Amino acid sequence: MTTPVNVTVTGAAGQIGYALLFRIASGQLLGADTPVKLRLLEIPQGVKAAEGTAMELEDCAFPLLAGIDIFDDPKAGFEGANVALLVGARPRTKGMERGDLLEANGGIFGPQGEAINAGAADDIRVLVVGNPANTNALIAQQHAPDVPAERFTAMTRLDHNRALSQLAAKTGAAVSDIADLTIWGNHSATQYPDVFHATVAGKAATELVDQSWLESDFIPTVAKRGAAIIEARGASSAASAANAAIDHVHDWVNGTADGSWTSAAIVSDGSYGVPEGLISSFPVRAKDGKWEIVQGLEVNDFSRAKIDASVAELVEERDAVKGLGLI
Ligand code: NAD
Ligand code: LMR
Repeated sequence: MTTPVNVTVTGAAGQIGYALLFRIASGQLLGADTPVKLRLLEIPQGVKAAEGTAMELEDCAFPLLAGIDIFDDPKAGFEGANVALLVGARPRTKGMERGDLLEANGGIFGPQGEAINAGAADDIRVLVVGNPANTNALIAQQHAPDVPAERFTAMTRLDHNRALSQLAAKTGAAVSDIADLTIWGNHSATQYPDVFHATVAGKAATELVDQSWLESDFIPTVAKRGAAIIEARGASSAASAANAAIDHVHDWVNGTADGSWTSAAIVSDGSYGVPEGLISSFPVRAKDGKWEIVQGLEVNDFSRAKIDASVAELVEERDAVKGLGLI
């Protein structure tokens, strides 16, 4: 039998964890031929609930699930990890300023980065889901100097999928007919869902939708969808977030299909004027286990302003965590 891949999931007892773990164990993350060992990392208060989830995972008798271990110590939780899904984070609570939120999360993602640096497998790939995802990923990456920076990513695939779905609904097309949409920037309300290179059944999306729909409907709907779901459900998106995490890692490991691209927040190499080192969302393809930024796209003035605004927010977040001594 193939050696199992170690997958560490933090926040395993949370709602995304509950939607994610069964899909990983069933083979949807890495493929139907790849056995997995799950390493669930929680805070001590979450361990009992994680044990309950582990019992349910056992009860599924997944043929690909080669083991489950539960930890409340990051050093142990990331030992030997090949894939790490960093889902657990400190949510913003009433009265909390942005600096407080960044600081609280620095206290989580700094030590987790160190633990990854110390003990993860050489091929470790990290996806940060916990918010503020881009900056949490930056904090973790900065605490893991021995791991290639490109192995740290943050999730904007949910935003990408939301954009696909909105454009499909507007044009009456199937989601699978749409290609080459991009989410740029931060996983926040400043993100920029860009359809200027997108096609719908081979036709330019810009021939099918007008600028006023883009500006007053599509962009705000995608960018504020997370908040709309919290408003409607009384809790943040969980199954769709887990689904996007599966999509992101699956593509990273197995490659994106047929030359089309997707979106992921990866470490900037300076492309498209995004300062080097920031973890920002780009149009990306995955090949041979690596993300590559799609190069050479024309960026019009409207897109330039939107990308710049979201990147400016990332710069502010980076400067704030620097100021707090978190990186
Ligand atoms: P949740 O509150 O249901 O679960 C979070 C879990 O993380 C809890 O069980 C908690 O005990 C655990 N946790 C907290 N600190 C931890 C630590 N230091 N180590 C290990 N575990 C820890 O939250 P959720 O709904 O599962 O959401 C998790 C995060 O994902 C939130 O930050 C949320 O905002 C974010 N999110 C991101 C996206 C995205 O697209 N990037 C989408 C949806 C949600
Ligand atoms: C989402 O996009 O659904 C989440 O990031 C929202 C949130 O604040 O958890």
